[in-house]
Amino acid sequence: MKAALRSAALLAAALCPAATLLRSPYLQSVGADRATILWVTREPVEAVVEYSSDGKLWQRAPATARSFTTKGSGETRYQHQADLRGLQPGTLYHYRVVAGDALLRDGLRFRTASSGPFSFLVLGDSGTGSPAQAQVARRMLAEESASLVLHVGDLCQDDGSLDRLEAHYFNVYAPLMSRVPFFPALGNHDYGTDLAAPYLFVHVLPAPGVPESDRGRYYSFDWGDAHFISLDSNLLIHPAITARMLDWLESDLARTRAFWKIAFFHHPPYPSGHHLNDPISARVREQILPVLERHGVQVVFSGHEHSYQRSKPLRHGAVVEPGRGTVYFITGGGGADLHALGVRPELAVAEQVHHYLRVDVEGWRMSIAAIAADGRVVDRVAITPAPELAPGGVVNAGSFTPRLAPGSLISIFGHHLAMTDRPAPGFPLPTELDGLSVTLNGHPAPLLFVSPTQINAQAPYGMDGAGVLRVRTPNGSAEAAVTLAPAAPAILRLPRGASPAPAILRHPSGVLVSPDSPAAPGETLMVYLTGLGAVAGSLSAGHPAPGPLVARHGVEVRLGQLALTPAFAGLAPGFVGLYRVDVTLPLTLTPGVYELRVVAAGAASEPVSVWVSALPLAEEQDSGEP
Ligand SMILES: [Fe+2]
Repeated sequence: MKAALRSAALLAAALCPAATLLRSPYLQSVGADRATILWVTREPVEAVVEYSSDGKLWQRAPATARSFTTKGSGETRYQHQADLRGLQPGTLYHYRVVAGDALLRDGLRFRTASSGPFSFLVLGDSGTGSPAQAQVARRMLAEESASLVLHVGDLCQDDGSLDRLEAHYFNVYAPLMSRVPFFPALGNHDYGTDLAAPYLFVHVLPAPGVPESDRGRYYSFDWGDAHFISLDSNLLIHPAITARMLDWLESDLARTRAFWKIAFFHHPPYPSGHHLNDPISARVREQILPVLERHGVQVVFSGHEHSYQRSKPLRHGAVVEPGRGTVYFITGGGGADLHALGVRPELAVAEQVHHYLRVDVEGWRMSIAAIAADGRVVDRVAITPAPELAPGGVVNAGSFTPRLAPGSLISIFGHHLAMTDRPAPGFPLPTELDGLSVTLNGHPAPLLFVSPTQINAQAPYGMDGAGVLRVRTPNGSAEAAVTLAPAAPAILRLPRGASPAPAILRHPSGVLVSPDSPAAPGETLMVYLTGLGAVAGSLSAGHPAPGPLVARHGVEVRLGQLALTPAFAGLAPGFVGLYRVDVTLPLTLTPGVYELRVVAAGAASEPVSVWVSALPLAEEQDSGEP
């Protein structure tokens, strides 16, 4: 009954609106748990978004409003913003906008981000409301399954004013924008009014990590297995702001663990025609591309030239084989008058055509199709990034040096290694995880953990000398030359506060030795490390040590100038590739901080600090008694 009354009230309100909707509701910054919805009314009404995942139970998100004055008519208008939080990932939400007693818009829907395959659209340089722009927009609207849209800048061709944005951006894309979020980049025309103030006013873009003064100009976000980065290439003429943006870019790319890294910005690094000698494009090549390529960005979308262009895969400006490097797209065919094309050696495909891109991200493969306004497929290409190992990227997991030993833990750093973070499900360790495998001279290396940028594995037993480590994924393989020594001891580190501490525990309490908990003379310490090599008995790689298996090579502990013989040195029971050395501190040891090294088969670990206290008074007295 209550619901019926509510519906009747809404219907009545809809027939007699108390507010005039001037800009339709549109989505911004949709993520796995959030969405922002904006719209514009003529009247300063209180408004709310009602939303529901099942069409029955409705929640309300009140909106805040900001007024603005149009340049043309001089009228005051009100931009409303409702922030929806605590949403469920991968969920379809229905929503409607209510202002006072009036139902401003009903029957809208959007879907939150989630893991798994997804699709997105890309367009740029939308123009000034041409029939071609409308045709591209209609065709994009028909792409029901796309999750989001990237706009690579020049949202409209003229002065970037609010009036132009209303006429040539919101009015054209409104039905699509109510359904999927647009994530834009700033073009040169968007700067035409008050340094892009209208653009910044109408968008609510992700802010984390971006300096407050630059918010909205560049940003990043995640969707599925992809990390998206929007840059403001216009800023490259301002050295101070460029330095801030590049600092942010460097740390943003270093932090992401996504397999797919996609960057978009307006000025193309490799223009061929209308903007061939654009000085900003040269700066993009010099300042932005080295950062993107160093971090394994696979795809870059730009606009500015009104055409479609796809580069060959490139690295440092040179053509590389498919599956390597970065592919650069120019997708400036959203509706503005088309530009003539030129010729560049980097170009793979180019066409003077109004179009948009449809991108399907599906696990290890990204498929990109350029679709003309009339529906013709202009180009289609698959991006399948092969694994790449960082220079010197195969290291001992304890020391992060190239010193490796059989049976020990190794870390492998690079790009495009695995699709997602995934630890081994259990023992024995698998030799393949999510399609990824590692071999050393053809012998499988058991895997502890895989991720897009790091693999932790165990070196097989029974190997010595020079070898080849190969990482294989469904997209290809990469190899690195390695050398295995009989032993390569490296003491592990454990998290402790802001900085990790050497994995040296006091026996039998298991308390970490630290300045706050120093070891005492006469106490036995358990040093956890990797790299002691072969052990007595037979144990297959990937299997946990069934008991304390003793290392085959002689092991010594050096504490300052002292050489100590450990009570035990070998594999720690229940672990893979993890060794333990038990050593008892002499009763005569004076208090202080000592350097501790473990030496095996002539190889010494890096030194770590051990804090030693004075002998407890009671023990001193006890030790003096007969
Ligand atoms: Fe442009």
